[in-house]
Amino acid sequence: MKRGRFITLEGGEGVGKTTNLAFIRDFLRQRGIEAVITREPGGVPVAETLRTLVLETQGLAAEAELLLIFAGRVQHLRDLIEPALASGRWVVCDRFVDASYAYQGGGRGLDWERIEYLERWLVSRQPDLTLLLDAPVEVGLARARARGDTNRFEEETVAFLERVRQAYLRRWRQAPQRIRRVDATLPLAQVQQAIAAELQRLLGER
Ligand SMILES: Nc1ncnc2c1ncn2[C@@H]1O[C@H](COP(=O)(O)OP(=O)(O)O)[C@@H](O)[C@H]1O
Ligand SMILES: [Mg+2]
Repeated sequence: MKRGRFITLEGGEGVGKTTNLAFIRDFLRQRGIEAVITREPGGVPVAETLRTLVLETQGLAAEAELLLIFAGRVQHLRDLIEPALASGRWVVCDRFVDASYAYQGGGRGLDWERIEYLERWLVSRQPDLTLLLDAPVEVGLARARARGDTNRFEEETVAFLERVRQAYLRRWRQAPQRIRRVDATLPLAQVQQAIAAELQRLLGER
């Protein structure tokens, strides 16, 4: 059986990651590909518990936040991502390792080498494709606030979120083949056109 492909969605708050998960699922379904939709932090029960801890604990040390997120990631990989890919299913994940570089690295200021160490130790695979939905911080924040339901990260300062954005862009420049930047300021239909083009590229349709 062919192994499934692994796609991740990245970007700051309110750029449209969750919105576009459904689009990607439908796009793949039309081609006879069933995708497992999941998210980080979270995706499996233990990791969802850790997600709540990370999102709701005040005063969490940056290092603690990083380790909790990687702890959830280990469980997520072992219990959901790897088995799904091995059984030939595709996995589409709302945030993954790049988010640790962006948030705990860029945002919280932890050394990238620390994150690289954890990644080498604990993460067995890289995504086949990462879609980086990129927009100025204010654009994403306005959308997240209009949507309601803001979390601890959405309540961070603009400077924090700007560092997150710049760290994502740095990741993109370092791996432009895997990470594809999509202009998330465009109307949703155009964002989805750009995502469809990347998916077609991955599928070898263009
Ligand atoms: N391209 C777009 N243009 C305008 N609004 C958008 C666009 N993409 C998403 N939205 C809206 O912005 C809000 C945040 O989107 P969401 O998918 O929840 O972002 P994220 O998961 O990245 O935080 C939602 O209300 C969504 O409907
Ligand atoms: Mg979301």
